[in-house]
Amino acid sequence: MRGVMIYLFGLSGIINVLALTSAFYMMQIYDRALMSGSVPTLVLISALAFGLFMFHAGLDVVRSQILHRLGARFDKTVAPDVHQMTIEMPRYGFSIGESLERGRMVDTIRNFFGSPALVTLLDLPWMPVFFAFVFFLHPYLGALTLAGVVVLALMTAMTELLTRRANRDVSRAAATRSSVAEANARNSDVIRAMGFSRSAIDLFRKANDDHLRLQASSSDITRTFGALAKVMRMILQSAVLGLGAYLTIMGELSAGAIIAASVASARALAPIDGLIANWKSIILAKNAFEKVRETIAALPDEPSLMNLPDPKRTFSAENITVVAPSTGTVIVTDVSFKLEAGQGLGIIGPSGGGKSSLMRALTGVWPVLRGHVRLDGADLSQWAEDSIARSVGYLPQDYTLFDTSIARNIARLGDPDPEKVIAAAKAASVHEMIMAMPDGYETQLGANGVNLSGGQRQRIALACALYGDPFLVLLDEPNSNLDPNGEKAVSDAILSIRERGGIVIVVAHRARALENVDMVGIIEDGKIVRLGSKQELMKLRVGAESQPAKPNAAEEHGDRSKTEAPSEPEKVAS
Ligand SMILES: Nc1ncnc2c1ncn2[C@@H]1O[C@H](COP(=O)(O)OP(=O)(O)O)[C@@H](O)[C@H]1O
Ligand SMILES: [Mg+2]
Repeated sequence: MRGVMIYLFGLSGIINVLALTSAFYMMQIYDRALMSGSVPTLVLISALAFGLFMFHAGLDVVRSQILHRLGARFDKTVAPDVHQMTIEMPRYGFSIGESLERGRMVDTIRNFFGSPALVTLLDLPWMPVFFAFVFFLHPYLGALTLAGVVVLALMTAMTELLTRRANRDVSRAAATRSSVAEANARNSDVIRAMGFSRSAIDLFRKANDDHLRLQASSSDITRTFGALAKVMRMILQSAVLGLGAYLTIMGELSAGAIIAASVASARALAPIDGLIANWKSIILAKNAFEKVRETIAALPDEPSLMNLPDPKRTFSAENITVVAPSTGTVIVTDVSFKLEAGQGLGIIGPSGGGKSSLMRALTGVWPVLRGHVRLDGADLSQWAEDSIARSVGYLPQDYTLFDTSIARNIARLGDPDPEKVIAAAKAASVHEMIMAMPDGYETQLGANGVNLSGGQRQRIALACALYGDPFLVLLDEPNSNLDPNGEKAVSDAILSIRERGGIVIVVAHRARALENVDMVGIIEDGKIVRLGSKQELMKLRVGAESQPAKPNAAEEHGDRSKTEAPSEPEKVAS
């Protein structure tokens, strides 16, 4: 856009020179037409001035249209990239509100392009044109105008200094407020059912009050200085007239020049005035611009990856350590395993043990701090997004369906390939259920599939994970919402993935989901405490249970009630 900006800068120069028209006109009327008393002169001058005014107006229109289009072009170019960041941010622990905020910043900038604020900025560098004119009329007048501008500029600087912190706080408060609002809206069911809407509103009220208070204090400062500046400008204008009159009395200036000086000095101050009036939107736009620039800079560079043949042999983790991006705490340490095509790994363990975090690392949603996740021997980062799209299916623990048709939900928002969609739905045993709906696969789901039950949503999400027979399928508690039929569907899906030579990893609470895996890993406190073939682990468990010599914690507790009961009170007493 640099070329256009230079062009606009030049255009603004012409517009500003044309803005001197009225000053010239006054001067010509007083000093020429009135002095000579010639009507034809007056007509000629007026016609000339009219022409210049029209030209001025025309250029002004052109400039504002260019600015508006420039804003739209900026938006069009940048918004999709910023939106990519909106998609990336939540997995690094930013709230949804914060992530959406980035998109709104593009709006702020686009609006700025069409606002008087930017026009002010474009006019600012042309102030010397007016100074030169006033100086040309009389150096004293020029000096007075310059002094006025310096005072006003200082006031602007003061405004900036005093509001800088406040403005930053205001935007932080605005973000907090929107995230409270969002959480409340999202929890609408819970709030209604347990009747704590009042507390929820209080929470919002507090955030809203904070925002209002901060905003009030910042706008107080801006307004006070704005009013002062206005008065300053009026004083200055009168001062120019007074000084002009004095100079005329002393015979150093013509009568027309007094008026011209007054008009031109007012025009010289206008950009400063505009700067004060639009200070807030200029700062907002500047902050938004910086944020957007940061955002674009922070976007991961798409490395030009060589197209590898789609994976079909192995999936492995080598000593991976997983850190939560939002808090930086280590959640899973030193996990290693290697799976061959056709294998299925079941992961079990207490909740909070790190199962979902491990799955996030295995899919690349969370980066690994140490170690490697490899598909066919190549690190995940070496696979182009296209190959990943064909080769990986993931069902997260919390899944939100998209507000579109079932078919598109299953086809991962792409154009649904009917055969593949149906195959995926059948693999998730959800085909019959979908066919029973009024619009079948074209049924629109609404926001987060409001029209479906939890189990139905989960099975559609499962179909989405199975769409296109991906080589690697990761399922995070796929049966948490399911009835026995649904559990069987998951179990069947696992078997069919293995039979077609895929690899499946499934996190499960209930043993039913482990029916068709051959490997089992147990995660506790972020560590794999056992990993092996299912048969071995089952044998171990059976062995442990049948050996009273090595009881586990629960049995110990049970035994103690018989054998150690008498000693217990003594311990407590001592
Ligand atoms: N987004 C997150 N940011 C920070 N910590 C997290 C995040 N998600 C989970 N954790 C923490 O990681 C640990 C393991 O969580 P998770 O992997 O969800 O366990 P599981 O799936 O086994 O129940 C928990 O202690 C939890 O507090
Ligand atoms: Mg979990």
